[in-house]
Amino acid sequence: MGRINRRSLLAGAVPVLGGAALLTRDATAAGMDHSMHAGAGQPAVQRPAGAHDGHANFRDARTVDHRANGFDPHDIVRDFDRGTTKRLPSGRVLREWTLVAGDREIEIAPGIRFASWSYNGRIPGPTLRCTEGERLRITFVNGSAHPHTIHFHGLHPATMDGIAGQGAGEIQPGGKTVYEFDALPAGLHLYHCHVRPLAEHIAKGLYGTFIVDPKEPREDADELVMVMNGFDTNFDRANEFYAANTIPFAYMNKPIKIERDRLVRLYLVNILEYDLINSFHLHGNLFEYFPTGTSKTPSELTDTVMLCQGQRGIAEWRFPYPGKYMFHAHQSEFTELGWQGFFEVA
Ligand code: CU
Ligand code: CU
Repeated sequence: MGRINRRSLLAGAVPVLGGAALLTRDATAAGMDHSMHAGAGQPAVQRPAGAHDGHANFRDARTVDHRANGFDPHDIVRDFDRGTTKRLPSGRVLREWTLVAGDREIEIAPGIRFASWSYNGRIPGPTLRCTEGERLRITFVNGSAHPHTIHFHGLHPATMDGIAGQGAGEIQPGGKTVYEFDALPAGLHLYHCHVRPLAEHIAKGLYGTFIVDPKEPREDADELVMVMNGFDTNFDRANEFYAANTIPFAYMNKPIKIERDRLVRLYLVNILEYDLINSFHLHGNLFEYFPTGTSKTPSELTDTVMLCQGQRGIAEWRFPYPGKYMFHAHQSEFTELGWQGFFEVA
């Protein structure tokens, strides 16, 4: 006993207990008694009933109410938001979106509520998609009770960076601003809130995918988006749930249907907070991997990639055989806490 937890150390909040076991999420995951948490004077861990094996019943039968949540991972995986466009006098395309930040309670796992913050009522936020060289104008409305911003990855002036003290800085509740810049460079990017405490503003759900298509379009494909994320439902700075596109086990309960021999292109983004890395592993196949999507030459033919927070890449492959193929994080702990799914090929 007396085990020191890496996560608690990172959080700078190791409880000092004479001889008692320290609070660890790992201990819970390993099936140790919940009473230790009470002993440590911590709030009870809000895991599904019988959490030691609890994710199993969730995985096998029940799911959350996607309709009540206002979004469904099965829609998000193929949903691209191209906004609205008009021609500028120069002939150039101006592409516009409006993103509204809001506070909303969602169901992360059956019976587990989470007070999320989101853009346009969904987590991840809309997948913004444009073409290299266009002018982009994003109107940001803060409908949340907390200050927020939108910080885009990509090339733009400092005043458009969406951080405190630059340009419009933090946007207060009820406030509004416009971010405007050129769509550069072509690749797979992301956006997220950049207000401190940063970990909280990200982990609450304020992030999304930002795709800049090359002028010369990529080959036609069945295109998918997965934002790898996780949720700290008991505020101990460690995640209790992991997923691609928010809802754990969603693609296990209902696999993603794929056409045999068709090119699949996956836009993969890691936004996971509190864990140092995340990963994506594909069964029964290998994929060509294009880090950040900035080159049309793959860096590797592989079946597993590792990403830190903010890293992203494009994966391309075809399934020559029918059947069900798993995909999941190759950290077994993340897999068991929700980050796994199936492709169903026919
Ligand atoms: Cu924020
Ligand atoms: Cu970032």
